[in-house]
Amino acid sequence: MASRTTSPCLIFLLALLLPLAAVAVPRRHRFPSLQLAPVNASEPPTTFFEVDRPIQPPRGSVGPCSALLLSDSFGYTYGRPPATAFDRIFGVWLSGAELLRSCTAEPRPDGILWSVSRDVTRYAALLSEPGEVAVYLGNIVDSTYTGVYHANLTLHLYFHSTTPSPPPLPHADLILPISRSLPLNDGQWFAIQNSADVQSRKLAIPSNTYRAVLEVFVSFHSSDEFWYTNPPNEYIEANNLSSVPGNGAFREVIVKVDDNVVGAVWPFTVIYTGGVNPLLWRPITGIGSFNLPTYDIDITPFLGKLMDGKEHNFGFAVTNALDMWYIDANLHLWLDHKSKKTVGSLISYDATSSANVDSQFSGLDGRFVTSASRHVSATGWVESSHGKVMTTFYQRFSYKNSNVYSKNGSEQVVNQTIDAKSGVSTTNGAVLLSEEVHQVFPLYLFSGTSDEVGDEYSLVSAIKLSINEKRGSGAEQGFSYSSLRNAQSARGSMRVKGNLVTSGSGENHQVYKYVGTDGCYSRDVSSKNYTIVFDHSDDSCLKGSQVKGSRFPSS
Ligand SMILES: *[C@@H]1O[C@H](CO)[C@@H](O)[C@H](O)[C@H]1NC(C)=O
Ligand SMILES: *[C@@H]1O[C@H](CO)[C@@H](O)[C@H](O)[C@H]1NC(C)=O
Ligand SMILES: *[C@@H]1O[C@H](CO)[C@@H](O)[C@H](O)[C@H]1NC(C)=O
Ligand SMILES: *[C@@H]1O[C@H](CO)[C@@H](O)[C@H](O)[C@H]1NC(C)=O
Ligand SMILES: *[C@@H]1O[C@H](CO)[C@@H](O)[C@H](O)[C@H]1NC(C)=O
Ligand SMILES: *[C@@H]1O[C@H](CO)[C@@H](O)[C@H](O)[C@H]1NC(C)=O
Repeated sequence: MASRTTSPCLIFLLALLLPLAAVAVPRRHRFPSLQLAPVNASEPPTTFFEVDRPIQPPRGSVGPCSALLLSDSFGYTYGRPPATAFDRIFGVWLSGAELLRSCTAEPRPDGILWSVSRDVTRYAALLSEPGEVAVYLGNIVDSTYTGVYHANLTLHLYFHSTTPSPPPLPHADLILPISRSLPLNDGQWFAIQNSADVQSRKLAIPSNTYRAVLEVFVSFHSSDEFWYTNPPNEYIEANNLSSVPGNGAFREVIVKVDDNVVGAVWPFTVIYTGGVNPLLWRPITGIGSFNLPTYDIDITPFLGKLMDGKEHNFGFAVTNALDMWYIDANLHLWLDHKSKKTVGSLISYDATSSANVDSQFSGLDGRFVTSASRHVSATGWVESSHGKVMTTFYQRFSYKNSNVYSKNGSEQVVNQTIDAKSGVSTTNGAVLLSEEVHQVFPLYLFSGTSDEVGDEYSLVSAIKLSINEKRGSGAEQGFSYSSLRNAQSARGSMRVKGNLVTSGSGENHQVYKYVGTDGCYSRDVSSKNYTIVFDHSDDSCLKGSQVKGSRFPSS
């Protein structure tokens, strides 16, 4: 068992995060950086990683030609009091367009090391012009938190000596940021603080646009970091739980262009490196935490309304939001090089949603079942030198969350599933392009407090979270298909005294399996505390299909 040394300043910071009140139940799910392993200066830094398939340079390409875009150290960057000190979220922007949203690993005395890679091919239009790189990392350095992050940002370019066959689908000709302008003492994302908050930016679209896709970046923090565990307000009020965030467990990011809801994001439940029990995420970090997923919304059917040369309002809101959500987007535009003006019209549009909460509780025990659904679909045509092309985009979401408190509120079980389908098809009589995406995000979270003696208690946690995704597309260039199953199953326990964690353990098992027309990759990896127990990976398409089930290895 390990112990920790601390300073009065640390205790003060922890007090902000873990209120000392008469063992307030239910508890929050965020714990600050734990230092549970003994310090040994001769040990090498720990390397953290997020399991993902390696990025493959295109077949037949040469390179890389690499350029160091930025090399910097991040010390004190927070403009606000340190209440959100542990949400070390960061973003990378190029000319205002976000390229990466990520979360830092939690430091250890002997140092930590990690790297994140992202395929930036779709941003080719931005990379071909001079631009301004911005990185914002919220960090605090004081007498306790002495960690400084040294970061390098490197661009690797690969080139084709001849035109590949078949030619790849072209990327956008222009990318317009829907974010806040520099200079700021903050990230370029919009910060959404409550359910009435709508953040927006006005933009004019070039009059020869024939296709438009919004790529949305989303992350949730502070009171909404664990939004899917939040109980309804009536439960909080009835039990006088002033420190528990509420507004229920359903959240939806709504994307509007002028007055129309053009699409929604029902985000994957990313758990950052300090969430639930920090030892679960060392060194295998939570799915999506180093490379947060982004969400595409095709707004081509609305182009007819947007190409009048005037500015239009692109806005974001979050249903039931509590402080705080960071949201921005990149608008990818395809331009008709053979004409100055395209024309278009919206033919049909439909956006409906429903949400329902079934609430039963008595004292601190209760059961809340929340269901919600959303459908958006739009069809419109655009006439350009490519002809008169009809585009249909749709999204269909369903959501179910069950949140059960038992044993006088000392145990909480959340079981949630988000099911998101979307698709786009374009025709000019014959089908030109057809894409379908089906994502399912299951989540299970158990949190139990026990062995309460005075101001000491034990906290046991178990989590299962996964991304299951199927993509298919068909175009003149050919067909592609992929299937991803990426599941983590983690559990751990901690002993907490007052508001200090005195000991703990955690283990995680992740099974990643990708099968696609562009290749295969599988990995089966497990960790206990800071140590990798086993790690098998395979990129052959035959053997890769034999990954074992997601059980814990016997200990
Ligand atoms: C993890 O480390 C803690 C002490 O830091 C120890 O008590 C526990 O047994 C370890 N757990 C495992 C699974 O090795
Ligand atoms: C520190 O780490 C080194 C290298 O791993 C090891 O040889 C040494 O025994 C460790 N010292 C302590 C006090 O654990
Ligand atoms: C950043 O790049 C410089 C120059 O290549 C190198 O000396 C330094 O170690 C790198 N730092 C990190 C954190 O990788
Ligand atoms: C909540 O606080 C109010 C006023 O302070 C008090 O009347 C009520 O009994 C409290 N309820 C519970 C469940 O503690
Ligand atoms: C339930 O918890 C509350 C608050 O911690 C406490 O006041 C109450 O006595 C507990 N009830 C039971 C039956 O243990
Ligand atoms: C979670 O809910 C799903 C569907 O509602 C159900 O199939 C599954 O068994 C539940 N899991 C747990 C652990 O309760």
